[in-house]
Amino acid sequence: MSFLPKPHGGKLIQLFDPNYQVTHIEKELEIDAIALSDLELIGVGLFSPLTGFLGKDDYESVVTKMRLADNTIWSIPVTLPVSYETAATLTVGEELTLVYKNEAYGVIKVSEWYEPDLDKEAIEVYKTKELSHPGVKRLYERGPVYVAGNVTLIKKPEKGVFGDVWLEPVETRQLFEAKGWKTVVGFQTRNPIHRAHEYIQKAALETVDGLFVNPLIGETKSDDISADVRLKSYRVLLENYYPLERVQLGVYPAAMRYAGPREAIFHAIARKNFGCTHFIVGRDHAGVGNYYGTYDAQHIFSEFPEDELGIKPLFFEHSFYCTKCEGMASDKTCPHGNEDRVILSGTKVREMLRSGTLPPSTFSRKEVVEVLIEGMKEATTV
Ligand code: ADX
Repeated sequence: MSFLPKPHGGKLIQLFDPNYQVTHIEKELEIDAIALSDLELIGVGLFSPLTGFLGKDDYESVVTKMRLADNTIWSIPVTLPVSYETAATLTVGEELTLVYKNEAYGVIKVSEWYEPDLDKEAIEVYKTKELSHPGVKRLYERGPVYVAGNVTLIKKPEKGVFGDVWLEPVETRQLFEAKGWKTVVGFQTRNPIHRAHEYIQKAALETVDGLFVNPLIGETKSDDISADVRLKSYRVLLENYYPLERVQLGVYPAAMRYAGPREAIFHAIARKNFGCTHFIVGRDHAGVGNYYGTYDAQHIFSEFPEDELGIKPLFFEHSFYCTKCEGMASDKTCPHGNEDRVILSGTKVREMLRSGTLPPSTFSRKEVVEVLIEGMKEATTV
């Protein structure tokens, strides 16, 4: 008997078919890196129950209600944008190969196409229309028409340095079972793991059987630290400071949307599909700038019954090292003031790393900082 949650919608979607016949398909659709990632994640079931890019009914329902048309909870539209010119050539029922950099990765069977109300999508999903929001900017850049239809993944993108940690939901589920974990907490991050992240992960691990460290490696904004540099830092941190029999590293190859609260729900659903029973939501999860309140991404969970969502969020307060407490703490556990707390913004830390300045070990482990400084140096010299 499995203790792991059922995939979202009840069944793990599996749409990978490398033998799918494409010789009869004449038309190609050039897709971008985000669509390629979405295609792959639909194909391997990480976005279960989705079987393709959203049709109009599902799209409108997700935008307004955070549910698919059949009422399944779903908070972020997964759509395939095309230009007006391309849309004018489409026919219902036809198949198109989905091509990225001259390589075919999938096939879509076109069911419909429609013009989204991008302003509405921006406001509902991102809570702003401002182009300084990276998710909103991308939304408007990507396109005026969405083409919908079921997909088949015919080729999986190369995994490169991520090969051993790119685990599909079928694999993570088997792995968690094999380890005998009945409860597994998933951790999302788009950053190096600093002391606050480590603190909340380990606090969560105190109450569950296993920790799934699951950094996002899809498209991020240009000033976020690159995924391959981060990967090195995760490896060195885990080797030195984590009980490896209780921790599994695996990547989450989705694009970052920076949609704050809505993305927290989306992130939780993907981790449920990986087999996690719990999911960490800390301070300003998936946020950017000042677009969301510090704990909005926690509050949104109260809009959905927990048994319907099927994964339990674990909420954490803003954590930091306190020099008076001489340890990691939060407002919940520390009576001291800001002058005693080591709090650095992401921007400040990136600046320090770029200039080769070491952030204090109370903020980030020395081994992690060394890897990051080295990696960022290499990135600027190529
Ligand atoms: S995110 O965009 O992937 O959410 P980040 O990598 O900074 O950004 O955060 C990863 C997870 O750790 C999120 O759940 C976030 O809320 C949480 N988190 C980040 N920093 C802190 C902190 N200082 N205190 C508590 N939680 C934090």
